[in-house]
Amino acid sequence: MPSLLIHNIGSLATPETQDRKRLSGNAMSNIRTLSNAAIVVENGIITRISESTDFFANVPPSTQTLDAQGMTAVPGFVDSHTHTVFGGNRANEFAMRSAGKTYQEIAAAGGGIISTMTATRNASHEELYVIAKKRLDTMLLHGTTTAEIKSGYGLDAASELKILEVIRELQKTHPMTIVPTFLGAHAFPPEYRENRAKYVDIVCEEMLPAVKERGLAVFCDIFCEQNYFSLQDAERILQAAQNLGFPIKLHADQLSASGASQLGVRLGAVSVDHLECTTLEGASIIGASETIATALPGASLFLNHPYPPMRALIDAGGAVALATDFNPGSSMTFSMPMMMTLAATQMSMTPEEALTAATLNGAAALMLSHERGSLEVGKKADILLADVEHFYELSYHFGMNHIRHVIKDGKIITNGKVIV
Ligand code: NIG
Ligand code: FE
Repeated sequence: MPSLLIHNIGSLATPETQDRKRLSGNAMSNIRTLSNAAIVVENGIITRISESTDFFANVPPSTQTLDAQGMTAVPGFVDSHTHTVFGGNRANEFAMRSAGKTYQEIAAAGGGIISTMTATRNASHEELYVIAKKRLDTMLLHGTTTAEIKSGYGLDAASELKILEVIRELQKTHPMTIVPTFLGAHAFPPEYRENRAKYVDIVCEEMLPAVKERGLAVFCDIFCEQNYFSLQDAERILQAAQNLGFPIKLHADQLSASGASQLGVRLGAVSVDHLECTTLEGASIIGASETIATALPGASLFLNHPYPPMRALIDAGGAVALATDFNPGSSMTFSMPMMMTLAATQMSMTPEEALTAATLNGAAALMLSHERGSLEVGKKADILLADVEHFYELSYHFGMNHIRHVIKDGKIITNGKVIV
């Protein structure tokens, strides 16, 4: 029996898959569009998508109906790279950067990740939970129905576990689908600045096993960069993670062409993220691999850095995902449509590719594309209704929230605010 019928959808746009996996290369443009459509959801799963309305007569009276009033339906956005759980903010650093200081200069002077580490260590579980819940509510209102959240602002075992426990509580209480990632190797904490090898030991020998034992993370990530973790550190930590069964991700080539993205490909990373400094040769290596290339154009915009070579990656056959990288230092935004705008204006991606990158390929980067990321029969009903006539307007009419209804696992969960 249908539990929800959404009708009067003016236009519907969704990536279309053959195999419920990612779309790569040219196939990233495979967007199915329908006009005057209806979607039927039963038990949280899409059971019918149709341009015809002749089945209406057979719908039992108990079915909940939602009149989309001609709005556009797209899949819920999948934000596959965020740092949502942290204390404080760095508006002061934002002002310093406006006055000419660089991200690296601020970090070298004791700001950056370490200043957020201090605020996060000083915050209790309850305080972090309340802040992060409010952030997730706002993300949901902007259309994000699935989000990855990384640890990485604790940088000692107890504080990293505290962040991951907060994420676990959010998973239990918040309607958003949340995927936790362990990022203990985000920066060296001050207490190990002179003994970096010891911190790498702690990540490998204490933190990773503790995270594994408690089942607190799906992925392991690392920030591989000059002054952060070297290629050697990254290989050691990521192999330790793989030995424990964690699939891996990397913050790669953000500030320099360090070779981290190629290390990721060699180790079989699920995704390599950032890629601002990836060379065209590097792009062709990633493009030919199974590793998803995740662009975080909010960080390029916010730090005035180059944009990653996503056109070259797609042309090389790669699968590109888009994510916000929401964090207090390099990308203070929740807006996936803004990422789509930047993809289309700064990275030579088409709006079709941007939609695939912000939905299906994000789901693939979280190993969830079998059940989320597109509007297809058999998938979970994570559906957005946007007050636009065509999905292009999501990225074209930028700096706006066009999302009016969010349907999550078949339930209508926003009505101007989050209602469950
Ligand atoms: O993904 N690059 C490393 N990590 C974050 C920035 C973290 C911060 O500045 O607090 C990023 O951009
Ligand atoms: Fe990040």
